[in-house]
Amino acid sequence: MDLTILRLTYLLLVVSCVASVVIPPFDYNADPVVVLNELQQLAISTLQNGSQLLSQGCSLTEAARRRDWEALSQAERKDYIQAVQCLIAKKPISDPTWASAARTRHDDFVALHTNVTLATHNTGNFFAWHRYHLWAYEKALRDECGYKGYQPYWNWFSHRDNLLESPLFDGSSTSMGGDGEFFRHNGSLVAGGSLWIPSGKGGGCVKSGPFKGMQVHIGPTMPDMDGFVPVGGGSNDYNPHCLRRDITSYVTKTWATTANLLNVTIGAASTTIRDFQLEIEGNSIPENIGFHLMGHSALAADGADLYTSPNDPVFYFHHTMVDRIWWLWQVLHPEEARKLSGTITMYNTPPSRNATLDDPLDMKELYPNAAISELLGTLDGTPLCYVYD
Ligand SMILES: *[C@@H]1O[C@H](CO)[C@@H](O)[C@H](O)[C@H]1NC(C)=O
Ligand SMILES: *[C@@H]1O[C@H](CO)[C@@H](O)[C@H](O)[C@H]1NC(C)=O
Ligand SMILES: *[C@@H]1O[C@H](CO)[C@@H](O)[C@H](O)[C@H]1NC(C)=O
Ligand SMILES: *[C@@H]1O[C@H](CO)[C@@H](O)[C@H](O)[C@H]1NC(C)=O
Ligand SMILES: *[C@@H]1O[C@H](CO)[C@@H](O)[C@H](O)[C@H]1NC(C)=O
Repeated sequence: MDLTILRLTYLLLVVSCVASVVIPPFDYNADPVVVLNELQQLAISTLQNGSQLLSQGCSLTEAARRRDWEALSQAERKDYIQAVQCLIAKKPISDPTWASAARTRHDDFVALHTNVTLATHNTGNFFAWHRYHLWAYEKALRDECGYKGYQPYWNWFSHRDNLLESPLFDGSSTSMGGDGEFFRHNGSLVAGGSLWIPSGKGGGCVKSGPFKGMQVHIGPTMPDMDGFVPVGGGSNDYNPHCLRRDITSYVTKTWATTANLLNVTIGAASTTIRDFQLEIEGNSIPENIGFHLMGHSALAADGADLYTSPNDPVFYFHHTMVDRIWWLWQVLHPEEARKLSGTITMYNTPPSRNATLDDPLDMKELYPNAAISELLGTLDGTPLCYVYD
């Protein structure tokens, strides 16, 4: 081997060492809240030390910080709640040709999600489309309703044994509302009817807190809770009803575990975008239904409807947590961070081509279509500039 090749090999080695993050050992027996904090610190430290995910677009110091609802002060929670109520009080701006059932600005985001459901779940754009949807919602809260903060997330691991004790669901004036009224039913059949989940103690209209009695107008389109009857159709079927929930800690108790958290962030399911994505949104097996389905199933009723789940304002907290896990994974796996897995139709039915980085993310006419590639980096600057706290 001549010297040039040796030097090149050495250079390549150095470059590939810089590219991959050194993951310290984690304790699989530790509490998942503790483990998540450690993963968070590792991610921030990795970014601070220099990462290929950093760009000219947005620096770590100027990036917005999306925080845990539990870390917000009472006053900050009230500001957020007020902004959501402002969106609910505003008129819709979506086009009635595809969203005639929308009656509020909040409904616009439900109608949008409902219209594109089959092109944005179990598809190559799942993470990116939802990241854009969240960004748009956060922007509406800020630009149209005077909110000064950023979209908070629901830390699934905290209070996982009894979600009703969480500041998110405790029904107080600084929560996102409590459980639904008791409604006798036999749990939910999730994952296309393949998996039964026992009921919580609710199932009816949200009975306490700022969103008590909230009215929604679209869906249910594909509910999985027993006794919750679909109206069919999508965002053109006007069906005013109260927002319903059945807060089901069973699912977080069962699946919000350290093993599942470590598997997707640093373990066997973290090595490729394909495995990561499957584990988060696609496996739907009793051993682990995946964090995406887990959060929806913990809300049940409206918040678990494949199409119309954004009716429940907690949808945005749940998906922000999904986005956070994706972000953590991206920071820890920079070489996979900008890759895609999947086609452009749900479960590849009907069969379709693979998603590509240039594919547009359809926001109907509400926001400009962006390419998937523009939503892959939360620090790219256009349009994204945020990290998680
Ligand atoms: C970042 O750099 C500091 C100081 O060199 C080091 O202690 C720390 O382990 C590094 N963090 C990571 C994630 O590489
Ligand atoms: C979505 O909206 C388009 C019009 O923009 C309409 O043609 C289509 O049928 C709608 N799809 C669903 C699933 O509602
Ligand atoms: C509840 O539903 C599950 C799944 O369909 C079924 O196996 C079970 O027998 C039902 N229980 C009752 C009490 O109806
Ligand atoms: C971890 O992920 C791998 C790959 O997706 C999967 O085969 C395995 O069952 C998972 N392990 C646990 C403990 O969930
Ligand atoms: C689509 O992606 C899969 C998985 O990466 C790959 O095996 C397949 O060859 C791709 N199909 C086409 C037509 O590129």
